[in-house]
Amino acid sequence: MATHRGKFITFEGGEGVGKTTQIARLAESLRHSGLEVVTTREPGGSPGAEEIRQLLVTGATHRWDGVTETLLVFAARRDHLVRQILPALVDGRWVLCDRFTDSTLAYQGYGMGIERDQIEGLHKFVCGFLKPDLTVILDMPAEAGLARAVARRAAAGEAGAAQRYEQLDLKFHNRVRDGFLDLAARDKRCYVVVDAAGKPETVERAIRREVGERLGIDIKTS
Ligand code: TMP
Repeated sequence: MATHRGKFITFEGGEGVGKTTQIARLAESLRHSGLEVVTTREPGGSPGAEEIRQLLVTGATHRWDGVTETLLVFAARRDHLVRQILPALVDGRWVLCDRFTDSTLAYQGYGMGIERDQIEGLHKFVCGFLKPDLTVILDMPAEAGLARAVARRAAAGEAGAAQRYEQLDLKFHNRVRDGFLDLAARDKRCYVVVDAAGKPETVERAIRREVGERLGIDIKTS
């Protein structure tokens, strides 16, 4: 077992903001700097949680009410946590996770109206006192992000196959974006907002600088 717990960094934001690309780039730089890094995602990240993901991202938009949806998200999170995230952190690996409880606060809370206290209570039940060491919020206008998500699907030959959340209206996605920004404004130490509308290289540099400064490491590029 490693003597130091690894760092837990989460990436958040609306649809199409480029989290997957940026997580891969930061992981590469961190590995280059000598760290062991695991990249993962929510909902999903473990075989059981990936099965629950299918229940969440496919089917009719109003398939679940907000409470059922919140419980499904936390059921997936519990499995992911105990099978992937915690063992990696205990082993000293750094975990870069695409979405975590802040997505539940933004989507099911600000987006669907589930009370913040209820979500925080579930977080404590499921995750105990675990919190990310840093949360990177990739921010861009919701309309532009949705357009990018649709274009990405078309490029992958999946035109018209938008996942459940992408089909919700712009008002919903604006509430989600405002929710993430509100979470960041309440706690400037644990969150950093990065403008995601620029070129991927610019966004990558900004993330590297913030992570390096805030977590006190010298991140090497290639
Ligand atoms: P992804 O497209 O970033 O992979 O995420 C899948 C969808 O799941 C995304 O539209 C947001 C949604 N989601 C929630 O609504 N609540 C959550 O807690 C999480 C983790 C994701």
